[in-house]
Amino acid sequence: IYEIALPKDMEGINLLVTAGPTREAIDPVRYITNHSSGKMGYAIAIAAAQRGANVTLVSGKTNLEVPSHIDFVSINSAKDMYEAVTQRSNAQDIIIKAAAVADYTPAAYADDKIKKSAQNGDFKIPLKPTDDILAYLGKNKKKGQLLCGFSMETKDLLKNSRKKLEKKNLDMICANNLKVEGAGFEVDTNVLTLITDSDEKELGIMSKADAANILLSELLKMRS
Ligand code: CTP
Ligand code: CA
Repeated sequence: IYEIALPKDMEGINLLVTAGPTREAIDPVRYITNHSSGKMGYAIAIAAAQRGANVTLVSGKTNLEVPSHIDFVSINSAKDMYEAVTQRSNAQDIIIKAAAVADYTPAAYADDKIKKSAQNGDFKIPLKPTDDILAYLGKNKKKGQLLCGFSMETKDLLKNSRKKLEKKNLDMICANNLKVEGAGFEVDTNVLTLITDSDEKELGIMSKADAANILLSELLKMRS
């Protein structure tokens, strides 16, 4: 077995990464979710652990194998993720939010399965907003802590992503281009633009593992 020689340049760094979708329960058998596969967040967790960081991965339900040598926290809903992340955020040097968090959740959970026969015609599910985890972290940022978000848009990607960078008080946002081939959900490659206050770095199409390593190196540069 060959081990790729990666620099152990993240030793002593506490890094928390979130990944995957959230599931917002409607009743005991149904939920609202999204297309996130979790691959980008898992690639970041694996790369950071290989480079020596103490990694916590807070993950929604995915089909991926749980990476070794990390602290794994499994969650379902946006509310679960909010609690898991905010409980652990003070101890972190770097927080990367690659998860696709639901913006809305059912206003009420039905304890019993909702019956078709109880509706007449159209059926509406009232939704209420979830708490924005990243915005909370940005407001409560610890001195020296780095916050990195992800952004997915189908139009005005860079402009809207930069708005999120500013609004949520982030150090970096990774804009995820859904409109090009080889990017986005399920696939093993990505096309990211790393946006900071002063810079915009467009990465070409590459594996999520390579993108993860570049993103981590850029964050490390911001620490010094
Ligand atoms: N995010 C979060 N908590 C939420 C919603 C989003 O922490 N309740 C984080 C995501 O993990 C991501 C970043 O915010 O890192 C941007 O998510 P995105 O969905 O692109 O942006 P929103 O601010 O939710 O705005 P919109 O969906 O309307 O574009
Ligand atoms: Ca959103």
